[in-house]
Amino acid sequence: MSLSFDFTNMMAGALPRGAGITEAQWQEAAPAFARAHAAVHARVHDLGFLTLATNTALLEPSLAVAARARGRFDEVLLLGIGGSSLGPIALRTALCPLRWNELTTEQRGGHPRLHVLDNVDPATIATTLARLELARTLVLVVSKSGGTVETMAQYLIVREALATALGEDTARAHLVFITDPEVGALRTIARAEGITTVDIPANVGGRFSVLSPVGILPAALLGIDVQALLAGAAHVTVESQHAALAANRAGAFAVLQWLADTRHGRRVHVLMPYADPLRDLAFWFVQLWAESLGKTKADGTSVGPTPLPALGATDQHAQVQLFMEGPRDKSVTFIGVKGRQGQGPIPARHADVAELGYLGGHTLGELIDIEQRATAGALAARGQFNATLTVDTIDAWHLGALLQTFMLATAYAGELYGINAFDQPGVELGKQFAYAMLGRTGSEAARAEWDALPQPDPRWAM
Ligand code: PA5
Repeated sequence: MSLSFDFTNMMAGALPRGAGITEAQWQEAAPAFARAHAAVHARVHDLGFLTLATNTALLEPSLAVAARARGRFDEVLLLGIGGSSLGPIALRTALCPLRWNELTTEQRGGHPRLHVLDNVDPATIATTLARLELARTLVLVVSKSGGTVETMAQYLIVREALATALGEDTARAHLVFITDPEVGALRTIARAEGITTVDIPANVGGRFSVLSPVGILPAALLGIDVQALLAGAAHVTVESQHAALAANRAGAFAVLQWLADTRHGRRVHVLMPYADPLRDLAFWFVQLWAESLGKTKADGTSVGPTPLPALGATDQHAQVQLFMEGPRDKSVTFIGVKGRQGQGPIPARHADVAELGYLGGHTLGELIDIEQRATAGALAARGQFNATLTVDTIDAWHLGALLQTFMLATAYAGELYGINAFDQPGVELGKQFAYAMLGRTGSEAARAEWDALPQPDPRWAM
């Protein structure tokens, strides 16, 4: 079981035209990383994600709820947004057989389907509710703060539907809240009504919560090997104790992206797995990197790389043209897989047709791997920064290792950029404006600021 990281194509020497991180820059970054490392690991008590993988006591409540639910539900409906939904989605896509929700109960080994409502588009919510048999549905309401507007609106609608279909008492037994141990509206409601809750540790923030009950409870319900998931993350956490860059893959990833951005103008950070099961991991990474690192510093300057999700080989026919010839502002990280499933040979049909004949006898696994290497090589040949993370296989252990690598890298990158990676003040104003328009008490100041904004100008509106 291993995770390897090859960043040759980020470095000067491998890239032509003077592009690439120089060895001197890499050496000079070592003390900056040592400081970042010390700052992150000194906060082990308030950065809860650092110890989630080894805190087995935390696993118990999720396993207990999953055991009680076994056989009682065919559907799990998860309500949440941002860090409360992207992790569970990434876990389902990576670790359940593909198209999980389309499989029969037997094919799913008796485990439920997982539906995630991560938006407030009324069409999606109506369609989802119309298709679910609520008597066989367990609803997970996931919110660290316990009061996020989108999740609360979803909850009100779904709770009403449950109560109408099943009656108030039974409806309560179909709900589990995953939320802060002490504060928030969900906690208050749960206390008042005796609704089952599973705690998100107070020191674990939304986008760093995938290995807390936020990801673990849905994963356990789906029959995912959560112990292996945490073991993979624990392995990376142990490795992360090394302050030397050469021994700390998460550190190396953070430093490379930071140098690529701040010294080489590579401000767009693409994550491009070459594997369908890892498609949603890229979306999870985008939120982690963007919301953590896009910040205004104390001196008023703005920092933050722009993360971009891509999927190989699909995006070779969509985005790779831009990565090759567009602005030289990107760094691409590929995720490759050594051992792939479904490795049948491509039939040797049409051997005499030039466009098809050479494919016969190769496997699709070979094809996708070769395409990944070819794209990496082509980008390098044109001076475009890229690196490759490779997992042995896509399983719970390797996914845990990848998730923890990216979370650690984000924490280190926050220190390197000189910002707080764990807050998100930039989303507040929009939230306040929305509250003001919805008439929430306490939003009078936001209402005044909203009302003072320029009105649509007929010259510029059509
Ligand atoms: O990463 C974060 O903190 C955010 O993206 C949150 O996950 C998101 O806003 C949802 O918050 P909550 O879990 O409190 O409902």
